[in-house]
Amino acid sequence: MSPFRLTRTLPEDATAAALRADVLHGLTCSPKTLPPKWFYDAHGSELFDKITELPEYYPTRAEREILAARATEIAAASGARTLVELGSGSSEKTRLLLDALPGLHTYVPVDVSESALAQAGHALIAECPGLNVHALVADFTAPLLLPRTPGPRLVAFLGGTIGNLLPAERVAFLASLRVLMAPNDVLLLGIDLVKDESVLVAAYDDAAGVTAEFNKNVLTVVNRELGADFDLAVFEHVALWDAEHEWIEMRLRSRTEQTVKIPALDLAVDFTAGEDLRTEISAKFRQAGVRAELEAAGFDLTQWFTSPGQLYGLALATPVRPPTARFPAEDRITTCVR
Ligand code: SAH
Ligand code: TRP
Repeated sequence: MSPFRLTRTLPEDATAAALRADVLHGLTCSPKTLPPKWFYDAHGSELFDKITELPEYYPTRAEREILAARATEIAAASGARTLVELGSGSSEKTRLLLDALPGLHTYVPVDVSESALAQAGHALIAECPGLNVHALVADFTAPLLLPRTPGPRLVAFLGGTIGNLLPAERVAFLASLRVLMAPNDVLLLGIDLVKDESVLVAAYDDAAGVTAEFNKNVLTVVNRELGADFDLAVFEHVALWDAEHEWIEMRLRSRTEQTVKIPALDLAVDFTAGEDLRTEISAKFRQAGVRAELEAAGFDLTQWFTSPGQLYGLALATPVRPPTARFPAEDRITTCVR
């Protein structure tokens, strides 16, 4: 095997078809929604990397701090020969794990962003001689087919990205991971914790406006791919803390009454003044909830590390029994009321 391989499990036309279906469904629903994976074209991935460096966006620094302190323990607990990482992005913090895993044979980064995978992969093979990198362009919410690589595997899902799934999606996602894993594989989850509302809201509504630009990038993607005429200036970035669900909700609020045309779908979408388009949630957790969700999916929480100030947690879990949770019916933010 050559040191760097990239496998596309999402053919170009399937992506186009999926975007069309998502946009058609999401924009004809009430309330309107767009699924978050469409943020991450090449520009979106770059904007996300900028977010990770913002003073208000603490999760990346907090997670890096835990990894720096605990990578050796995590490596020893897993003894991994393969590291699989879901939603790997720039793989920047992953280097701490790669450096701590001397017996590692292959790194399998999985992401929807091919540009992020290519950039990270080429940098890594230059930095880590002897490491095989087999990148997968794939949607981690769909069934995953992993390359055949030596076990045990450490399956990492960092950045708090699990919080971008709705509760029912999370259950289904964890259960499908459980089914993919062998008894001696280990799961490493990056978990953003519930904290003061002002800290949370600032992390998703920074003073420099980078998160606003990132949120609006989804409109740029729809303009480019489907010929739509979203005017980004007429939408306002909104980040709300939903205390009942314990999640941050990102929205794009129409500043005026307007009609947006989407020629590729032969669709005209009316917005009232102040109407919200919901784009993303980012759920925040407590240790007990994480433990319970892992157990329902057939994992035991074996180690729990937190950052100073309890901002962020890393959970290590092992697959111990079949998932008991049922795969629930789809639970998007909205149940479509047409
Ligand atoms: N793990 C990195 C990046 C987190 S941002 C970090 O901790 O900084 C979330 C990442 O998940 C992005 O790289 C995005 O492209 C990817 N992503 C989002 N939805 C996805 C999906 N459905 N399938 C695969 N990758 C996805
Ligand atoms: N996984 C990141 C998080 O929930 C993704 C993210 C950060 C994000 N900032 C965002 C998604 C702003 C949408 C909008 O923290």
